[in-house]
Amino acid sequence: MGRIVHVNGDFLPEEEARIPIFDRGFLFADAVYEVTSVLRGRLVDWPGHVARLKRSLAELAIPMPRSEAELLAIHRELIDRNRLGEGVVYMQVTRGVADRDFAWEAGMTPGLVLFTQARPLIDNPAAARGLRVALMPDLRWARRDIKTVQLLYPAIAKMRARERGCDDAWLVEDGLVTEGTSNNAWIITRGGEIVTRDLSSAILHGVTRAAILNIAAALGLKATERPFTPEEARDAAEAFTTSASGFVMPVIEIEGTPVGDGRPGPVTQRLRAEYIQRALESLT
Ligand code: PDD
Repeated sequence: MGRIVHVNGDFLPEEEARIPIFDRGFLFADAVYEVTSVLRGRLVDWPGHVARLKRSLAELAIPMPRSEAELLAIHRELIDRNRLGEGVVYMQVTRGVADRDFAWEAGMTPGLVLFTQARPLIDNPAAARGLRVALMPDLRWARRDIKTVQLLYPAIAKMRARERGCDDAWLVEDGLVTEGTSNNAWIITRGGEIVTRDLSSAILHGVTRAAILNIAAALGLKATERPFTPEEARDAAEAFTTSASGFVMPVIEIEGTPVGDGRPGPVTQRLRAEYIQRALESLT
């Protein structure tokens, strides 16, 4: 694929990049990550992503591998070296390298890996089509507010969704939707109320989620942060997901039931358009 990636201070061709087998990210999923989207060769919502990275690291007592300014400079250099116009930058910070032992020593040097993925984000065909989502139990650990690389269950859930002819899964715990496998879940009720689950350790505190709440407020739309049931979702007028890589993605079917008229909803499409417009006006 010929990409240039970043590993611990070095920019090198992806085929030459190596990480040690004793990296705790590899052995214990002892690592956190961020995915930041890129439009016109610049970063979307960078302040939100770096703030969440710092929070995830602090929760796990992993030090920042570089200053905020240095991390931004690495992102920019990687974008330039790969001539990335539109796509994402993936950044992972691991606790570091030590012989295999569940307990870790204080003072380890964190590891840093970044790579780019080019893909159309604005003219994304899935956004025009809308997503079909399946419902599945949420079997992840209880600290989903920390953006760790423990992604085996979300990966399995997405595979099972595909086997059932769906694009993704929404996860359900105690009779309530938590979030999607890699996105936050939203519904718009028939009464026009925009609903997404309130922040807690049950969900990732999505950067795009926060932006959409601000946009809804700016547009004078009623948005409420509260949990909702699968039944309420299947009875909704519209539904969508938010994430850095998908922005706002319409959901047109939930567990076989069409949402609204089974096509991307008008409010969802408006929120997507507003998000993209504001993102283009505030690139880093
Ligand atoms: N996923 N919830 C989960 C479980 C996620 O993995 C993500 C992001 C989100 C949305 O957060 P944000 O708006 O900050 O991207 C919610 C990224 C895109 C991924 O894993 O590729």
